[in-house]
Amino acid sequence: MSERAEEILCEARELLSRAAASQEVERLRVRYLGRKGAIAELLASIPNLPAEQRPAAGKAANRVKAELTSLVEEAAGRVAQREVAGGATFDPTLPGRRPPLGHVHPLAQVLEEIVDTFRTLGFSVAEGPEVELDWYNFEALNIPPDHPSRDDFDTFYVDERVLLRSQTSTVQIRTMERLRPPIRVIAPGRCFRPDTEDARHTAMFHQVEGLLVDEGVNLGDLKAVLHLFAREFFHQETEVRFRPSFFPFTEPSAEVDCTCPVCHGDGCTTCSYSGWLEILGAGMVDPNVFDAVGYDSEKYTGFAFGMGVERLAMLKYRINDIRLFYQGDVRFLRQF
Ligand code: DAH
Repeated sequence: MSERAEEILCEARELLSRAAASQEVERLRVRYLGRKGAIAELLASIPNLPAEQRPAAGKAANRVKAELTSLVEEAAGRVAQREVAGGATFDPTLPGRRPPLGHVHPLAQVLEEIVDTFRTLGFSVAEGPEVELDWYNFEALNIPPDHPSRDDFDTFYVDERVLLRSQTSTVQIRTMERLRPPIRVIAPGRCFRPDTEDARHTAMFHQVEGLLVDEGVNLGDLKAVLHLFAREFFHQETEVRFRPSFFPFTEPSAEVDCTCPVCHGDGCTTCSYSGWLEILGAGMVDPNVFDAVGYDSEKYTGFAFGMGVERLAMLKYRINDIRLFYQGDVRFLRQF
């Protein structure tokens, strides 16, 4: 019985090693391992053997079956490889398929552009945590508890003292606590507000904060820096104007507009025919903020500004829905 098994194995090994086409391998597989194949036959004959020979015979048949299975697989693999390499279906001289390359997200591009512009003006990059203490998001920025101006910067709370920062102005305080003047930093980063999502709001967005503190800094310096930035970011003829406004951490405060990058000030739908678009908030650092970080507000003055990165990107590229940045649709992203 086990001799018969060995014989089958020997014969099959020989034939499989010579097989040159996949049909041939398949035929051999059926001959040996098929439902009516040699092994099946062998197994079927076991019950006819004397009882004491059956276990050994079963073992032998199963061992040979396993070995045959792997021989068939081996032969099939070898033959298939040769067929692909030699067949007309594969041209090894064709260039390979290029895997699709990703690229930098439009928001990251704009962020980088903003940072680069301020770098050339001598600003360095500062960072702060997104999960923040009330002190940095509010109190040190001259926004006391229960003050109505908190509403403008409402946020998500982790507990009473800990929150998700609703503005990058937090980094002004963190930077001033860490360094002495002169200071010249920008702070790009993520902010959070419990806004209902629509074409202009998302609960998470990006800002770039700026802070410059030294002796004798004045509003003219702020204007010059922002004008230069607007010209670099949009185009060289861009003008800026300051409208009086209120922020708790600056005095005086302004909202800053630039000439509409679409119509260059002539008036169009983007700027509602005013010729101007608001691009950021800014002002001279409030002495109360200097007091909060222990700076001498008699000696030092400074300016600060904060801009929304999504908003700037939307103006620059005429994107009309902020949610497009976050939907991950490659048809949108590929355009940048
Ligand atoms: N933090 C303000 C906001 O979220 C923007 C801002 C306004 C930042 C004036 C400033 C500033 O540094 O001086 O709307």
